[in-house]
Amino acid sequence: MFTTETLYVPPPALAEGAHVAGRAAYDALVREAAADHQAYWARLAREFVEWKRPFKKVLDASNAPFFKWFEDGTLNASYNCLDRQVHAGLGAKVAILFEADGGEVTRVSYADLLARVCRMANMLRAQGIKKGDRIVIYMSMSIDGVVAMQACARIGATHCVVFGGFSAQSLRDRIADTGAVLVLTADQQVRGGKHLPLKAIVDEAIGLGGCEAVRRVVVAKRTGADIAMRHPRDLWMNDLLACQADTCSPEWVGAEHPLFLLYTSGSTGKPKGVQHSTGGYLLHAALTTKWTFDLRPEDMFWCTADIGWVTGHTYIAYGPLALGATQVVFEGVPTYPDASRFWTMIQDHRVSIFYTAPTAIRSLIKAAESNAETHPDRFDLRSLRILGSVGEPINPAAWEWYHRHVGGGRCPIVDTFWQTETGGHMITPLPGATSLVPGSCTLPFPGIDAAVVDETGADVPNGQGGILVIKKPWPSMIRTIWGDPERFRKSYYPDDFKGGYYLAGDGAIRDAETGYFTITGRIDDVLNVSGHRMGTMEIESALVACTELVAEAAVVGRPDDTTGEAICAFVVLKGSRPTGDEAKAIAKRLRDWVGKEIGPIAKPKDIRFGDNLPKTRSGKIMRRLLRSVAIGEAITQDTSTLDNPMVLDQLMHSN
Ligand code: PRX
Repeated sequence: MFTTETLYVPPPALAEGAHVAGRAAYDALVREAAADHQAYWARLAREFVEWKRPFKKVLDASNAPFFKWFEDGTLNASYNCLDRQVHAGLGAKVAILFEADGGEVTRVSYADLLARVCRMANMLRAQGIKKGDRIVIYMSMSIDGVVAMQACARIGATHCVVFGGFSAQSLRDRIADTGAVLVLTADQQVRGGKHLPLKAIVDEAIGLGGCEAVRRVVVAKRTGADIAMRHPRDLWMNDLLACQADTCSPEWVGAEHPLFLLYTSGSTGKPKGVQHSTGGYLLHAALTTKWTFDLRPEDMFWCTADIGWVTGHTYIAYGPLALGATQVVFEGVPTYPDASRFWTMIQDHRVSIFYTAPTAIRSLIKAAESNAETHPDRFDLRSLRILGSVGEPINPAAWEWYHRHVGGGRCPIVDTFWQTETGGHMITPLPGATSLVPGSCTLPFPGIDAAVVDETGADVPNGQGGILVIKKPWPSMIRTIWGDPERFRKSYYPDDFKGGYYLAGDGAIRDAETGYFTITGRIDDVLNVSGHRMGTMEIESALVACTELVAEAAVVGRPDDTTGEAICAFVVLKGSRPTGDEAKAIAKRLRDWVGKEIGPIAKPKDIRFGDNLPKTRSGKIMRRLLRSVAIGEAITQDTSTLDNPMVLDQLMHSN
C-alpha cells in the first residue's frame, strides 16, 4: 500500500541523539518486551517512577480482565511530578508558562507550583477531604485547574474533571455518578474574548437533584463577575487558600489507587466513568511523553488539549511534570484574536514540541487560505522540532500541510493513536526511530501488543482490515468503569469475543509491506466530531427527552471536511412533519435543546424530519440506510426488507 517514496525518514541528527535512537533501538525494545513482558514493564516502572515502597509484584492477572499492576508498591503522583523535580534542583525551572485568553503570560516555577499544590491540598484536607473521596473539577484551562488535579493526587482524593463545555445536565450526571463530595470551579471562564458561566452551571447541575453528597463548592475567581454564592455550601477559593501552609505531606497510596475518573462515551447508555490507577498510569504518562515526543530538558512543550479530556490529563497535568519539563498552558482558542494565535504563541514562546488535533489543523488551513495574514509561513516557527497529532485520523492532505508549513519540512509528526481508556499512547511513531507515512499511526509503542484480528480473535493477514485489539494488558489501562464492573467487562472483554483481548472499538488495517497500522474508524456507534467522542445513543436520548416535540430520533455520523465527522439526526415529531421555515425553526430549537442536555459539542449539524424512520418489518431502524441518506449518496443497499420505503425519499429531501 505504501511506497518507499511516501516514507519520511527520521532526520539523521534526531535519529542519532533520540531517546529511542533508530529503528534498531525500537526493535530491540519490542524484542525485550516480547521476551519478558513483565520484566520489561518492571524495569521501566523502576526507572520512571519514584516509589515510596518498591513493588514486588508486577502483574496480577488472577482476576482478569481486572488486571492489577505493581499492586504492593506505594507512591504519590504529585510527589513524583513536583517534589522530585525540586529535589533534583529544578525548583527554579519554569514548570508552566500560562498564556491567558487575552495574552497575559504567567510563569510558574516547579517550586512555586509545588507550593500552590500544597496550599490547595491543605485547603482540601481542611474541608474534610480524605483519601478516596471524589472531587469534581469543573474549571477551564488555568494554572488553578492543573493545581487542583495535582492537589487531589497529593491527598489521595480521586479527581473527575468535567470539560467546561458540558451542560448542567451532563455535569449533574457526573457529580451524581461519582458521588463527589466537593466541586472545584471558577466564577466564569474566558474563551475567545467571551465570558462564559461556570459557577452558575454548577448551581443548576446541583439543583437538578442527585448531588446530595456535595458538601462544598469552592470557587476560584477568574473574571470577578457578580455571581450567586450559597451559604454555607459555597466558598471562595482564595479566602480558603490564604491561611494554608505551602508544604503538605503527600498521602502515599497503593499503585492501584484510583487517581482519576474521566467520563467518555460508549455505544450504549450514559457516558461511562473510566477509572485509572496511580502507578501504572503515571508510568505510561511519563514514559510516552519522553519517548513519543523525544522530550529533552530544554524543550518547550505545548499540548493544546483541554484538561477536560484525557489528552490534557496525560500530556499536561501529569506526563510533562513527571519529567520536569517546561510547558505552555493556554486558556483560549486557536482562532482568537485571529487564526494565527497558535503560530504567534509558538514564535513568542519558542515552542519546540507542539501537539494538537487534526480538526484544529484543518480549520487553520481554511483560515490561512482565506486570510494570508494568518498563514504559518509568516511566522518564525524554527524553534519547532517535533509535531504531534491526536484524537482522530489525520487525512494525508492536512498531514502534508502541517509537515510543510508548520514543521518547515523538518519536524517529524507523531500521529498518536490512543483512547481515554488506554491512558496514553498505544500506536505511534517515535520521532528518532520510525519512518512516517501520512495518515498512518505506524507501529505500537514498545510493550503494547496491538494486533488486527477477525471476530473469532484470529490474526488477519496484513493488508486486510479487521478489529483492533491489544492482546496483553498494559500498566496504564482502564481498571474498571466506576460503579459498573460488568459494563467494563462487557465493553472491553466480552465473553463472545475469543482471545481475551482488549477490544478498542476501532477498526484497523496493517500495511502489507511495512506492517504499519492505519485506523479505519470506530466499529461501534461512537462518533468522533472535532476529536470529541460521542455516542449516537446519547444524542438520540437527548433528542427524545424533548418529549413535547419529539416522538423518535436516530443519529448517525457523516464525513465532514473540517470536523472529521458531523452529527446528522433524523427526527419524527409528535405533530405533523414540518417543512420550510417551520422545519428550520424546529431544527434550531432541537439543536439548542441538545446543547442544553449534553453541551454545544453535541449539537447536530444536520436535522431532518420524516413521518417515520426507515425500519425493517421487525421494527429495527436501518442505520446503514440513514448513513447513505446523510452523505447524500445513492442508495445501493437492499431496501426490500424496509417496511416503509417512501420515508427515505422524505428524509433525503427534507433539508
Ligand atoms: O477512534 C479513535 C480516535 O479517538 C478514539 C478515542 O477517543 P477518546 O477516548 O476521546 O480519546 C481521544 C484522545 C486520545 C479512538 O477510539 N482516535 C484517537 N487518536 C486517533 C484516533 N483515530 C485515528 N488516529 C488517531 N491518532
